[in-house]
Amino acid sequence: MFASIRKYTLLSTVVLLTALIGCRKDPVITTDGQVTAEAGFRIPQGWPAPHYSFAENPLKSTVIQLGKRLFNDPTLSRDSTISCGSCHQPAAAFSQADHVLSHGVAGRLGVRNTPGLFNMAWHPSLMWDGGANNLETQILAPLQNHVEMDLMAQEALDRIAATPDYRQAFRTVYGTDEITLSRTLKAIAQFMAILISDDSKWDQVQSGKAQFTQTEAAGEQVFQQRCATCHQPPLFTDFSFRNNGLMPGATNDSGRMLITREQNDQYRFKVPSLRNLSFTPPYFHDGRAPTLDAVLQHYSTAVQSQHSANTDPILQGGVPLSGSDKANLKAFLITLNDSSFATNPRFR
Ligand code: HEC
Ligand code: HEC
Repeated sequence: MFASIRKYTLLSTVVLLTALIGCRKDPVITTDGQVTAEAGFRIPQGWPAPHYSFAENPLKSTVIQLGKRLFNDPTLSRDSTISCGSCHQPAAAFSQADHVLSHGVAGRLGVRNTPGLFNMAWHPSLMWDGGANNLETQILAPLQNHVEMDLMAQEALDRIAATPDYRQAFRTVYGTDEITLSRTLKAIAQFMAILISDDSKWDQVQSGKAQFTQTEAAGEQVFQQRCATCHQPPLFTDFSFRNNGLMPGATNDSGRMLITREQNDQYRFKVPSLRNLSFTPPYFHDGRAPTLDAVLQHYSTAVQSQHSANTDPILQGGVPLSGSDKANLKAFLITLNDSSFATNPRFR
């Protein structure tokens, strides 16, 4: 009797384990944004739920692979020279190294600095002005933009369809080799969604694995008082649109107003994350600040409240920072770099 119960327990354990191992092999991970470690998506401890929903685009490692290939494929630009990855480079935390403004097909210059791509699944809106609010349809903007890839969506699909091993890849992933816009955008969106950066020194301090130096801790104090309202941890942005007091630059970019047509939104931009800053210079929407020192100089002396009625009330009058405040702040900001993200072989 006992023995048979034991045998039964043992058997069910084996069945359960086999099922679990079976599950682990199954690359279909999630429908509702829950734990998806195997495909590379996870919600780091203490982070809010992501904004992007995987309900219509369940994560699979094969889809991610396809998305990565499309992301890095220059044939998806008019002259076959520029891929998403030309401007969004892994070692630069997916920004464009050494470029003040973006640089697309035929040497055409864009009007904005290329932001890094990480933690994109948490962004409720995309672009400096929030001109897109969906990680999938957003992709059409750079693809079709004259100064970026300059390729109409239909032609992109035709080019993909003309490549035999893409057909094979679509068949492997989706069961049929139909090359549709929806499948293409969803795959690229999945690749972007797994670009999670959550292993900076700051993160390690939160989880008790590291400690700030005295300088970094002092910088954190200043940061909490002066910066964190807009650059809110753990994503280091509250995703709002604000005017941080920059003088209109050479591009005279109206920012959020271009989308809403509201005068009140002129010169407001999406608050950028401050993770990975050492990989993403230069800074600001038009790349005008070459270094973090230049950024801090702006906040401490150059906030131009007189230039725009829309300068954020928090910053009216500037943020007086002493020499040691600046040094401490800079040390703190550097703790937000995640070099394991910038060097992750999976993303290359
Ligand atoms: C020529 C350079 C260039 C190319 C090529 C390019 N991008 Fe971008 N990307 C930019 C710039 C510049 C911005 C900011 C645009 C803006 O704010 O108007 C941007 C913004 C984005 C954003 C929003 C980031 C944020 O923080 O809001 C995403 C996502 C993105 N690009 C994905 C892609 C994908 C996917 C491709 C390929 C289909 C691509 N990009 C191709 C330069 C480029
Ligand atoms: C009122 C909200 C607000 C406050 C407070 C604020 N910022 Fe910003 N920050 C912004 C906005 C908006 C931008 C983007 C401005 C642009 O490019 O036009 C920005 C941009 C930046 C950038 C450039 C990031 C990049 O990728 O280009 C850095 C670095 C930065 N802020 C650091 C700080 C620091 C340090 C403090 C505190 C001293 C601070 N910010 C306070 C709103 C704010």
